[in-house]
Amino acid sequence: MKISIATLFDAMFEPFFMTSIMKKANLKNLVQFETINIRDYTKDKHTRVDDYPYGGGAGLVMQVQPIVDMLKAIKTKDSHVILLTPAAPVFNQARARALSKKSHLILICGHYEGVDERVMAYVDEVLSIGDYVLTGGELAAMIVVDSVVRLLDGVLAADSTKEESFENHLLEYPQYTRPETFEGDQVPGVLLSGHHQQIRSWRLKESLRKTLKYRPDLLEKADLDQEAQALLNALLKESED
Ligand code: ADE
Repeated sequence: MKISIATLFDAMFEPFFMTSIMKKANLKNLVQFETINIRDYTKDKHTRVDDYPYGGGAGLVMQVQPIVDMLKAIKTKDSHVILLTPAAPVFNQARARALSKKSHLILICGHYEGVDERVMAYVDEVLSIGDYVLTGGELAAMIVVDSVVRLLDGVLAADSTKEESFENHLLEYPQYTRPETFEGDQVPGVLLSGHHQQIRSWRLKESLRKTLKYRPDLLEKADLDQEAQALLNALLKESED
């Protein structure tokens, strides 16, 4: 996969691409990163890329010309163009999975008060990372890239993304590692039992417990089998008592 980041602040991406899993994925040739400075495409003689909003109001708006010329220069028939903006559907694991199947992602990072709406005709998708406003789309782009790259075949150990949070709309079960006892707090005995069936069932119940506590909205979308539904009913009953 190739990932192109169009931004006014390309220096922000250097440490991100050169660290941890992003670096490993790149070294394994599973992903190629490039940053494109939108300012390189402005036709303004003072290299401006923003201007005052028509109709008045606070702040500056990113101009359409540099962004569209940048896209015309780098886009191919395989490119999927995404604009990061708070005025968009919220990104989630299902979108990350879908994007991990594309061969070329172009992520455009907005800045200032937003981007001239006429850019919308040149993008395939708009994404927000949550209901809050950042100073620009750069951090949002990193979040999207991180969650997509770790799903690419060969980046993480096979199967390690299958059971994590949001797969099947549930939060992940609690995890423990050594030591067995920390300041008197013990690892749940079932995890030490070696009894795979009981461990699986305990994990499912704890996954349901966490989801019920922190994200009950997810349970409406979860596709629960009979066992999961029975465990959830038991948890609901426990919380009534
Ligand atoms: N730019 C500013 N805020 C944002 C958000 N919440 N998501 C994506 N891009 C943004």
